[in-house]
Amino acid sequence: MAKAAQSEDLKAAFEKHETETEEHVARLEKVFEEIDEAPRGKTCDAIMGIIEGAPALDAGLLAAAQAVEHYEIARYGTLKTWAAELGLNQTANLLDATLAEEKKTDEALTELAQSEVNQHAQAA
Ligand SMILES: [Fe+2]
Repeated sequence: MAKAAQSEDLKAAFEKHETETEEHVARLEKVFEEIDEAPRGKTCDAIMGIIEGAPALDAGLLAAAQAVEHYEIARYGTLKTWAAELGLNQTANLLDATLAEEKKTDEALTELAQSEVNQHAQAA
């Protein structure tokens, strides 16, 4: 998506969150350690559907990225709550750190949409 973005700011936002997402994976590996399970990757059809359905213009890329963030916020929020209820405090803290970054990314994308990307879409 960073490659497809025309706006330099949108490209930078995608690249920043890609770096954060690598940290999210590292946190998940720690979560799996705490619950004594082996992590494994799995393709998420919901996310793939959102990304594949996105129009290639910046406004569409941004909208799809926000849909992905909202999905992540929902999942991390639920998992954080469950972890806290189970007394898995380290896990809850790790999930909360990721949740905070997902929310921050969502807010940054909203600002970009309002300040720049949607205006360009209307002018095009
Ligand atoms: Fe994210």
